[in-house]
Amino acid sequence: MFSNKEFWEKRFREEGKVWGEDPSKSVYQASEFFRKHDVKSILVPGSGYGRNTRLFSSSGFDVTGIEISATACKLAQQFDPASKVYEGSVLDMSFVPGTFDAIYSYNLLHLFSENDRNLFIQECIDKLGEPGFAFFTVFSEDEPTFGQGRWVESNTYESRPDRPTHYFTEDDLREHFQDFEIIETGIVQEPEDHGGQPHTHILRYVFVKKAA
Ligand SMILES: C[S@@+](CC[C@H](N)C(=O)[O-])C[C@H]1O[C@@H](n2cnc3c(N)ncnc32)[C@H](O)[C@@H]1O
Repeated sequence: MFSNKEFWEKRFREEGKVWGEDPSKSVYQASEFFRKHDVKSILVPGSGYGRNTRLFSSSGFDVTGIEISATACKLAQQFDPASKVYEGSVLDMSFVPGTFDAIYSYNLLHLFSENDRNLFIQECIDKLGEPGFAFFTVFSEDEPTFGQGRWVESNTYESRPDRPTHYFTEDDLREHFQDFEIIETGIVQEPEDHGGQPHTHILRYVFVKKAA
């Protein structure tokens, strides 16, 4: 089963602030892009307990998160009270009012099946104003876990029990965002130290503009 509420609910209930309180390095990079393009409002799908929204909100952006785990939403309300957070699924974001200048989504897209990845991207297009920008990070095929665990579908493995993951090549990432104007893609190395095992994720990022 792909990204499911029970998996995330259990994880946040048992581990709390799973990835610590510091934001992902990519938030600083995305902030720079967003400032350059005069972004004021940001939607953060899969906002977790708010470690990334907090950096955006404290930098003066108007921030809204969407998060499937009720426990993570509660943690976020305490950790980042300046951001709004809606509990629900990013596969139907119609319950969130309005449109946004930008979307920032950290390590969520790779948690979905092919159909749901395309659905999520379409939902993101619908939530962007014009001009609208988006910054996504995803697992790359250079991740140490690529190819491990049960094969699920193309470049997708259950490398962690109950959490199938799609690993993106550069071409694959570009294909997913073919309906956007692609401004920049690249690799970002993200050191993490949770579960007693320091490790570094090799992520791909894409910065895009909604096509006019
Ligand atoms: C890899 S975690 C990243 C969390 C957060 N971006 C961070 O770095 O702190 C993925 C997040 O997406 C959330 N999520 C998973 N599936 C979702 C869905 N269908 N709708 C909304 N959120 C979802 C999870 O609960 C989790 O918080």
